[in-house]
Amino acid sequence: MGASESIAQLDATFGIAGIARVVAGNGGLPKVVVTGAAAAGEMYLLGGEITSWKPRGREQALFVSAASKWEDGKTIRGGVPVCFPWFGNKADDPKGPAHGFVRAKAWGLDSIAQKGGAVTVSMSTASDEGTRKLWPAEFRLVLRATFGAELIMELEMMNTGSAPLRFEEALHTYFRVGDVTKARVRGLDGIHYLDKTDAFREKTQQGDVVIAKETDNVYLDTEHAVEIEDAAMRRRIRVSKENSLATVVWNPWIEKAKAMSDMGDEEWKEFVCVETCNVGKHGVTLAPAANHTLKTIISIASA
Ligand code: BG6
Repeated sequence: MGASESIAQLDATFGIAGIARVVAGNGGLPKVVVTGAAAAGEMYLLGGEITSWKPRGREQALFVSAASKWEDGKTIRGGVPVCFPWFGNKADDPKGPAHGFVRAKAWGLDSIAQKGGAVTVSMSTASDEGTRKLWPAEFRLVLRATFGAELIMELEMMNTGSAPLRFEEALHTYFRVGDVTKARVRGLDGIHYLDKTDAFREKTQQGDVVIAKETDNVYLDTEHAVEIEDAAMRRRIRVSKENSLATVVWNPWIEKAKAMSDMGDEEWKEFVCVETCNVGKHGVTLAPAANHTLKTIISIASA
């Protein structure tokens, strides 16, 4: 069966007239396009990755690079990559795929449903021969994305094996901003963080986070919401969460963006990543047959 035939089949099975369709997206990759009463959105089967969320009456909330590669087995630059089962480099193998392997894997589409103007798309992936070579574990991972006035993302991990598992996870959200140098991330004042640009040294945040250089901070013990104030677009994006103890704030700044083959030289100005996660000492241990759901709720208000 060719890719376009399977896209047509997925659309016939899961599409909802006027509300959700499965179509060929960039690079011919299958994506779900949602056009609900409360919001429009897009989600690729590659990585179970959300690439667009536009609540009614507002501008696009997410950044996707114009230089992104759109290929099976490659990662999409922007949107909401799912990092799992490790974050950053693999601890015991620096050659392992960065941020784990599920973001470059084709996920399955499980359901599309609408309720009160919002549309929920559910995709999943599970352990197989390929994942066992990288991580000897049995699991099932589901991402339920609700595209409404809020964007709600629930990442549910199930330990389907007979041994306990330890993993890291992140919803690595690229928020679109008008000018990152004029944006601030509020809500992290006084919080301890690991500065990845300075050999993971532990520091204390003073005031709001402003992006004035490469920024790669892992904020620890952060269960609470943060807010991105985007002066250029005159809006505030609120990121609240459940079952998440860490928050990462990342922007590559000038040199690193230039060195990335899937990011335009000037695009670093157009986004800040605020990542709802459980990483490092906040990694999750899961008993056999147990599950864990990381949840984040995004909303936008005028500034
Ligand atoms: C961030 C990490 O979450 O993702 C950074 O903290 C990393 O260290 C960035 O550079 C982008 O990662 P990647 O693998 O998508 O280039």
